[in-house]
Amino acid sequence: MTAAPDRPSAAAPRPGPPLWLLAELTYRCPLHCVFCYNPVDFAQTTPEQELSTEDWFRVLREARAAGSVQLGLSGGEPLVRDDLEAIVAEAHRLGFYTNLLTSGVGLTESRIAALKAAGLDHIQLSFQDATREVNDFLSSTKTFELKQKVAGLIKAHGYPMVMNVVLHRLNIDHIGEIIAMGDALGAEYMELANSQYYSWAHLNRAQLLPTRAQLEAAERTTQAWREKLGDRMRLFFVVPDYHGDRPKKCMNGWGNVFLTVTPDGTALPCHTAKMLPGLAFPNVREQSIESIWYASEGFNRYRGDGWMKDPCRTCPEKEKDLGGCRCQAYMLTQDPAAADPVCSLSPHHHLIEQAVAQAEAGVREQPLVFRDPKASLALSGTRSQP
Ligand code: FES
Repeated sequence: MTAAPDRPSAAAPRPGPPLWLLAELTYRCPLHCVFCYNPVDFAQTTPEQELSTEDWFRVLREARAAGSVQLGLSGGEPLVRDDLEAIVAEAHRLGFYTNLLTSGVGLTESRIAALKAAGLDHIQLSFQDATREVNDFLSSTKTFELKQKVAGLIKAHGYPMVMNVVLHRLNIDHIGEIIAMGDALGAEYMELANSQYYSWAHLNRAQLLPTRAQLEAAERTTQAWREKLGDRMRLFFVVPDYHGDRPKKCMNGWGNVFLTVTPDGTALPCHTAKMLPGLAFPNVREQSIESIWYASEGFNRYRGDGWMKDPCRTCPEKEKDLGGCRCQAYMLTQDPAAADPVCSLSPHHHLIEQAVAQAEAGVREQPLVFRDPKASLALSGTRSQP
């Protein structure tokens, strides 16, 4: 049954369509990455609560009808779902451009052939590092050789090689080796994405935040490689928020382009919005994508700039960054309508400066928390849900 939609905010102009649909098919994952962006309480969603194949087909149809064109298939590890090929085939039939975001675990010769036949357009393969030791340590698995094999399969099946490596204090000094590995594996694109500090990365922030000197050295190395590689490989270097003085326009604006559907069908404007207090997010089992996108309170609350308070409200740059990230504002200030503390004009900016100063002073001696269902259940309800 379709629930009655919430009233749209009077101040917000009607947004464009949800061009980018991210289907988080499952939170199940064979890896245990210390910087995982899945919510810390992910284990509260059981496999039985995941959307069915038919549910996903309906979500795809409704999203396509609402104007979605790009589909990201992620998780967890989306290859854990044995209906992935069917979901890809339906998305392809509907006209989506389909992207698989994977650790490579489970991407066998037969599955990649089936995905190709189903019409999969694009595969992004993640690595944790260029060394077996750090790759396997950070994911708490033995997957380094497997990932290299999968890289070969991706090339052999005619896909462009798109690699993603999350950077942080424990691997950023290896950036030259990471790029060299990508080059050796025939990567055409590499995303060197400094960790942003949400979810598991936020729990491990004291151990993962790099120093400014590390970051600057990594940028220099990346630039030197760009000159060396020319057109052979494109390198995207994403700077961590904490080392900037203006926030990012998170998700390109709240409810502006991105629509995430979590494994249990909750529709969100970003991966972690569910933690925000006082907001009920709709579920695709109960409400259509059209109604969720245009009429739900969850998607309208932080659209545009009508919700802002000072310093954002009167800031000449407010349209550029839209006040930054609502989740980061909430995690650090407990107020989701506050300016993102990354901004040097935020009254809470000292919280970012303190974290950076701590990184400069050296790593705090405390164990890393690996993403793991047991840890997730233990941590659920004991914190403010970053
Ligand atoms: Fe939620 Fe930025 S991650 S608004």
